[in-house]
Amino acid sequence: MKFLLPQLPFKPSAIEPYISRSTIEVHYNGHLKKYIDNINSNDFIKSIKEDVELERIIMLSSEKDLINNFIPPLPQTSELFNNSAQAWNHVFYWNSISGKTDEFGGEIASLIFSRFGSLDKFKKEFMNKGMELFGNGWLWLTLYNGRIELINSQNAEIPWLYGARPLLTIDLWEHAYYLDYKNNKDKYLKAVIDNTLNWRFANKNLRFSEL
Ligand SMILES: [Fe+2]
Repeated sequence: MKFLLPQLPFKPSAIEPYISRSTIEVHYNGHLKKYIDNINSNDFIKSIKEDVELERIIMLSSEKDLINNFIPPLPQTSELFNNSAQAWNHVFYWNSISGKTDEFGGEIASLIFSRFGSLDKFKKEFMNKGMELFGNGWLWLTLYNGRIELINSQNAEIPWLYGARPLLTIDLWEHAYYLDYKNNKDKYLKAVIDNTLNWRFANKNLRFSEL
């Protein structure tokens, strides 16, 4: 079987001025394409005759029990896991950063208010959780046991492997922001959290997640 490069759900300039067109183009045509190429060059993938969902490949390659407990996350090291999980994470990321601030509302707003008291408090805690991550990885807004949990994950780790349902994510690999913000991860995070989070996508994930 062969995976196709997932379509970018917006024009490369759509997130400007918070994320530049050139960053999105390199991120999509360079990094995501490389992950897909790596999956397709994997001998196990080449040996599969029928189509298999990417999520299934991630689970098959995760090499651990799917326990309903994400603490503490164990590092994943297989090449197929890293590339398939990174492909999944990036598709989720494109959807997570293509929103508008005035779309904040619905069930996600209720959950955030009950957990943090205010949107501003949530933003501060979300930012802190992202800044805590050392090295490359992801920042996640998740639902775990009916409650909002903020998670940062190393490398390609995905919260649903540990029983937490992703609602939004932000890419914290340096390639996501270095062209625009250099080493100022805090400025990238603040710009994305304040201006681009896709609350409609978060509400959709609350309603329809199959994970
Ligand atoms: Fe990335």
